[in-house]
Amino acid sequence: MPPPLPLFFLFVIFQLSLTSTTTTTTFLDFPCKPPEHNSYPFCNTSLSTTARAKSLISLLTLREKIRQLSNNASAVPRLGIPAYEWWSESLHGVATNGPGVSFNGSIAAATSFPQVLLMAASFNRSLWSSVASAVAVEARAMYNTGQAGLTFWAPNVNVFRDPRWGRGQETPGEDPMVVSAFAVEFVRGFQSVNYGGIRSEVGEMNRVLEDDNGDGKSGDLMLSACCKHLTAYDLEMWSSFSRYNFNAVITDQDFEDTYQPPFRSCVQQGKASCLMCSYNAVNGVPACARKDLLEQARDKWGFKGYITSDCDAVATVFEYQHYTKNPEDAVADVLKAGMDINCGTYLVRHTFDAIQQGKVQEEDIDRALINLFSVQIRLGLFDGDPRKGKYGRLGPEDVCTAEHNKLALEAARQGIVLLKNDEKFLPLKKDTVSSLAVIGPLANDATKLGGGYTGIPCSEKSLLNGFQDYIEKTSYATGCFDMSCDSDAGFDEVIGCAKEADYVVVVAGIDLSQEREDHDRVTLLLPGKQKALVSSVAAASKNPVILVLTGGGPLDVLFAEKNPQIASILWIGYPGEAGGRALAEIIFGDVNPGGRLPMTWYPEAFTNVPMNDMRMRADLSRGYPGRTYRFYTGSRVYAFGQGLSYSNYTYKFLTVPNKLSLSGYLKDGYSKNVIHQVGDRLDYIYIDEVTSCDSLRFVVEISVTNVGDMDGAHVVLLFSRPPKVVRGAPEKQLIGFTSVNAISNGSTTASVLVDPCMDLSFANEKGGRVLPLGDHRILLGDLEHTLSVQI
Ligand SMILES: *[C@@H]1O[C@H](CO)[C@@H](O)[C@H](O)[C@H]1NC(C)=O
Ligand SMILES: *[C@@H]1O[C@H](CO)[C@@H](O)[C@H](O)[C@H]1NC(C)=O
Ligand SMILES: *[C@@H]1O[C@H](CO)[C@@H](O)[C@H](O)[C@H]1NC(C)=O
Ligand SMILES: *[C@@H]1O[C@H](CO)[C@@H](O)[C@H](O)[C@H]1NC(C)=O
Ligand SMILES: *[C@@H]1O[C@H](CO)[C@@H](O)[C@H](O)[C@H]1NC(C)=O
Ligand SMILES: *[C@@H]1O[C@H](CO)[C@@H](O)[C@H](O)[C@H]1NC(C)=O
Repeated sequence: MPPPLPLFFLFVIFQLSLTSTTTTTTFLDFPCKPPEHNSYPFCNTSLSTTARAKSLISLLTLREKIRQLSNNASAVPRLGIPAYEWWSESLHGVATNGPGVSFNGSIAAATSFPQVLLMAASFNRSLWSSVASAVAVEARAMYNTGQAGLTFWAPNVNVFRDPRWGRGQETPGEDPMVVSAFAVEFVRGFQSVNYGGIRSEVGEMNRVLEDDNGDGKSGDLMLSACCKHLTAYDLEMWSSFSRYNFNAVITDQDFEDTYQPPFRSCVQQGKASCLMCSYNAVNGVPACARKDLLEQARDKWGFKGYITSDCDAVATVFEYQHYTKNPEDAVADVLKAGMDINCGTYLVRHTFDAIQQGKVQEEDIDRALINLFSVQIRLGLFDGDPRKGKYGRLGPEDVCTAEHNKLALEAARQGIVLLKNDEKFLPLKKDTVSSLAVIGPLANDATKLGGGYTGIPCSEKSLLNGFQDYIEKTSYATGCFDMSCDSDAGFDEVIGCAKEADYVVVVAGIDLSQEREDHDRVTLLLPGKQKALVSSVAAASKNPVILVLTGGGPLDVLFAEKNPQIASILWIGYPGEAGGRALAEIIFGDVNPGGRLPMTWYPEAFTNVPMNDMRMRADLSRGYPGRTYRFYTGSRVYAFGQGLSYSNYTYKFLTVPNKLSLSGYLKDGYSKNVIHQVGDRLDYIYIDEVTSCDSLRFVVEISVTNVGDMDGAHVVLLFSRPPKVVRGAPEKQLIGFTSVNAISNGSTTASVLVDPCMDLSFANEKGGRVLPLGDHRILLGDLEHTLSVQI
C-alpha cells in the first residue's frame, strides 16, 4: 500500500475540489417531486419521521447507502433523490468555508456579525439569540436561492482553554457556563425562528426553560445547527502536536466540569440536531471512535440528530492517530461507535471493503442513515418543494437588511471592551477634536474585521472609515506593512503623522496571520515590532494616545497598561462589518462601552506552560499554574470579566438567600454512601442524589445603580467561592450573569436565576458532580454574601 498522503495535503485537495464545484443545482432540486416521485411512503407526511426514514432506507441498495455517508451525499435518481451537500457554515453569519455555501448567485453577500468571542463579551443572551435568528433567516434565504444547504456546522463550543489557541476567537470564551449559555441561545435561535416566547416572566431572566421541542416532527427544524468539536479539542499545532495526532489526556474531574458542559447544554437545552466529533483522541481513543461519549449524548442527554466527523477525521483515526491497522478498521470503529457521516470521502471509499471483510454490517449503515434522513425530514426536505413551505418566502430581500445591519452594529457596540481609561480620557468630545490620526495596518483594511469563518459582508467599511465619519480631518499611516510588523521602515512617516494630530488612535494586535485554524500562536506579545510602533507613537504625540487591540487571543500588553502616554486601551476582537462605526461611536461617547472579557489575559510567561497539558487545576508543586479564572494561580494582564465603562455602577442585594436547606430534596435512603462524611462532618452530596433540582432554584435580585453621568448597559457577573471541602474546588466560579440598561443616576433591578445543582456544584476527582455543604461566598463586585448550604 502506498504511504498515506500527509493529511494537510489531502485537506487542501479536498477543499479545493469541493469549493470549485457549483452547488446551485443541488439545492434547487428536492426529493418527493411530483408527479413521479411523491408517492413513496417516505414522502408521506402522515407517517412518523422514523417510519419515513426506514422506508427510504429499505428502498436503497448497499452501494447507494454507502454513497450517503459523505458530506457530499450522492443522488439516487431512480427514487428522485438529488445529491445533498451537508457542509455549510454560519459561525457568525453565513460563511464561505463550507462547499455548501456559494455567494455566486442572486445573493452576493450576507451580514457579517462580530466574531463569537466579541459577542460573548456582551454577556447578553437576547443579543446572542437575535443574532442567531438573523443568521438563520439569511441562511434559509440562501437555501431558497440554491446557494446554501440546510445543515450548518456552527457553533464552536469548545472552551477557550489556552490563550494561544488559533480558534479561541470562534468560541464564547473560557467559562463553561457562558459557553453553554451561548450554545443554547445560538442553537435555539438558529434552528427555529419561532424561538423567543419561552422566557420566564422575570423579564430578563437568564435561563432558558425546558420545552417539549425536539420530538422530531417534520418541519420542527428551520435549519440544523451543529455543536462542535466533541470533545476536548483546542489545540491546532504546538511543538510536535497537531490536532490530527493529539491525544488529549483529561482527568475525570476536568472532563465533567470543564470540557463536557457546553455539549450537554447544547443537546439538552439547545436541542441541537448535530454533533461533530473532533480529530483528537480523548484519553487514547480518537473522539469519533469514543462509543461511550457518542452514546452518552444519545442515551443520557437525549440527543436526536446526526453525528458528523470533522473533515477527514475518519482518515486521521488510521493515518494520524494510528489507532487502527487499516482503513477498514477505522471505518468499522466509527460506525460502531455511533458516528453517522464523514466529512470527506473515507467512508465512501472504504465501507464496502469493510463490509466484505465482515467488519461492518449493513445494520450499522442503516443506523446511521436513520439519523441522517430523520434530520432531513425534520427540515422539511421530503415534504414537497421547500420553496413552497413555511420558509419558502425568504429570499434576497431578507438578506443584508437594514435591521440585520443594525443588529451587527449593536453586537459590536455591546461587545467592545474598555480595558484602560486614565482619568476619564475617553470619551473624546467631538467638537474639541480638530484632527485625528489613525495608525496601524489593520485600521485601513476592511477585509479582516470578521476573523475566522467569515462570508462576504454586506458592506465593507474599515475602522478608518468609522473615524472619518466623525472627524473630517482624519489622517492615516500604516506604520507596518502588515500585522507581523517585521520592519520599522514606516515608523518615521507614522511619527510625523502622529505629531501633526490632536489625538491619535493606534490599532495594534493580531489577525488571522497570527491565529487561525491549523495555527496556534507561540507568543502572547504583540507581533514583530508592534510594541515599538505603539511606544514611539505614544512618545511623539501631543496628547496621550488611544490603543485599540484587535484579534481573539489575549495579548500581554502590560507595557501599555503601565505607560501614562497610553491613556486608553480598547479590545475590539474581530468586530464584523459594523465594527468601524461601533468603535468610533464608543471613542466619541455616543455609546457607553459595557463589554467584559470572556477570558483571562495571561502574561507572556504563560507560554512556558505546555499547550498539550489539558489539566485545568493548578499543580503548584510541579510549577503548573492552572488555567482560566477558576483555577489559574498566576498573575494576570487582565482578568476574566474585566471591562470598564464611562459610568460607574454600584450594587445592592435585594433578594438573596442566607440558607439553602436540602432536607426533603434528597433521594430516599440516602445514606453514608451518598453523604460524604469525614468524622462527623458532612462534606458534600452528589447532585444525582437530589430529587428535584428545579425546586431548589432561587432568584438573586440585585439593584444596579448607575452613579455616572452617562446611560449605559452593564453586565452583572455573580460568582461563588465554594467551601474548600473537596480537592480541586475552583477558586471561584460564575453562577449567573445578566446584562441591564441603567440610566445615569438611575437604578434598575437585575435578576439572576441560580440552579444550585448546576451552578454551585463542580466535579470531584472521581468525576462526580458534587454540591459542597457549608458556606458558599456569593461574590458581586466588591460585595460578599454568605449562603449556607445545609441538610
Ligand atoms: C460528489 O459525489 C459525486 C458522486 O458521488 C461525484 O461525482 C462528485 O465528484 C463529488 N463531488 C466532490 C466535490 O467530491
Ligand atoms: C399516508 O399514510 C397514512 C397513514 O399510514 C395512510 O393512511 C395514507 O393512505 C398514506 N397516504 C398515501 C398517499 O399513501
Ligand atoms: C458564477 O456562476 C455562473 C453561472 O452559474 C458561472 O458561469 C460563473 O463561472 C460562476 N462564477 C464563479 C466565480 O464561480
Ligand atoms: C469610578 O470610580 C472609581 C473609584 O471611585 C474612580 O476612580 C473612577 O474614576 C470612576 N470612573 C468613572 C468613569 O466615573
Ligand atoms: C441585549 O441585546 C438586546 C438585543 O440587541 C438589546 O435589545 C438589549 O438592550 C441588550 N441589553 C443590554 C443590557 O445591553
Ligand atoms: C446625576 O447626579 C449628579 C449629582 O447629583 C448631577 O450632577 C448630574 O447632573 C446628574 N445627571 C443626570 C443626567 O441627571
